Amino acid sequence: MKLAVVGGGSTYTPELVDGFARLRAALPVDELVLIDPAADRLEPVGGLARRIFARQGHPGRVTWTTDLDAGVDGAAAVLLQLRVGGQAARAQDETWPLECGCVGQETTGAGGLAKALRTVPVVLDIAERVRRRSPDAWIVDFTNPVGIVTRALLTAGHRAVGLCNVAIGFQRKFAALLGVTPPEVTLGHVGLNHLTWEREVRVGGVDVLPKLLAEHGDAIAADLRLPRDLPARLGAVPSYYLRYFYRHDEVVEELRTKPSRAEEVAAMERELLEMYRDPTLDEKPALLAKRGGAYYSEAAVALTSALLGDTGEVQVVNTLNNGTLPFLPDDAVIEVPAAVDARGAHPLPVRPLEPLFSGLVASVTAYEHLALRAALEGGRDRVFQALLAHPLIGQDATADRLTDTLIAHNRRHLAWA
Ligand code: G6P
Ligand code: MN
Repeated sequence: MKLAVVGGGSTYTPELVDGFARLRAALPVDELVLIDPAADRLEPVGGLARRIFARQGHPGRVTWTTDLDAGVDGAAAVLLQLRVGGQAARAQDETWPLECGCVGQETTGAGGLAKALRTVPVVLDIAERVRRRSPDAWIVDFTNPVGIVTRALLTAGHRAVGLCNVAIGFQRKFAALLGVTPPEVTLGHVGLNHLTWEREVRVGGVDVLPKLLAEHGDAIAADLRLPRDLPARLGAVPSYYLRYFYRHDEVVEELRTKPSRAEEVAAMERELLEMYRDPTLDEKPALLAKRGGAYYSEAAVALTSALLGDTGEVQVVNTLNNGTLPFLPDDAVIEVPAAVDARGAHPLPVRPLEPLFSGLVASVTAYEHLALRAALEGGRDRVFQALLAHPLIGQDATADRLTDTLIAHNRRHLAWA
């Protein structure tokens, strides 16, 4: 089986490769192709990937190329983990919204819209080329903003599933707190990508969320940097992205005074690439754990093996709503547990969402709809509408200012600007 990774020159790749090596029984990869326009990254990352396979006795070949069409040719699955404009563009997304008193983040708010506008056309072009070369290939999208990118792929009729590591991160964390293994923990995870809540945490069919909060509420809330009693008051554990909503003003103040995450990550990436060049290194370095993608490899292996192996295994993924949350349009993309088989992801039924969550989910879904339209069709008015509809923005003068700033910073990535 051939797998291709677009954005394979990413410093994240050793995380993925380590997963492919460790979990090769679930996903027998004969050839792993790393595809990236940055040849200078492919060498060190590809070299380390080969050494990780060799050290773990993996018989598969690792190759790399800057040629997308050749790279995806004959692939059974194509993983997308790219970042248009690199950390430099991300640094801007995280900075200019702050001038308007809005959060600066790469997936939430105005920065997330900028990233969507840069990314959707590139991903759709890649998907079209995948379809031409390997019409049966599955596309696994880890490229942010995952909700909007997956909606773009599915609307265009591609065989795609969106993936994020937030759910698997909670599953691992809760398992450790409860003293059980991760597969024993089933999450009642619901919402949109980067806008989710865990409403149930089941072990052996029993919801242990109340017990988890009673015994470990402090640790859970401290980790999310939210008030200790908030999860209990919500009756759910929110993902850390909800902090941008529940603690908006506090976060804006904080972001104003410290270096951007992009700057931190860029420094880490320089250090990582230096390490990857060391021919004696043959495992993923500990420093990689400081990136946000923990357990990404486990989630990606599980999803790819369910799609290719037609297992029907239940996983948290991003896929079409199709009535699962009845107050959202069918073509919205939601993040919920779904049975995954060779025909794709099929959401499990979800008990009705409380108004405490559903209002936010509905308005961010409307924003995502408008964001996708702006990404596909371009134009200042469409950008303005998406920003105005975002629940963290909502005021016309702010949306107008953000629109001009977004376009000014991203002109070279926007064909229509
Ligand atoms: C988490 C999110 C990803 C995001 C990443 C950022 O893993 O699920 O969607 O890309 O964090 O991590 P970074 O190390 O780049 O800040
Ligand atoms: Mn994510």
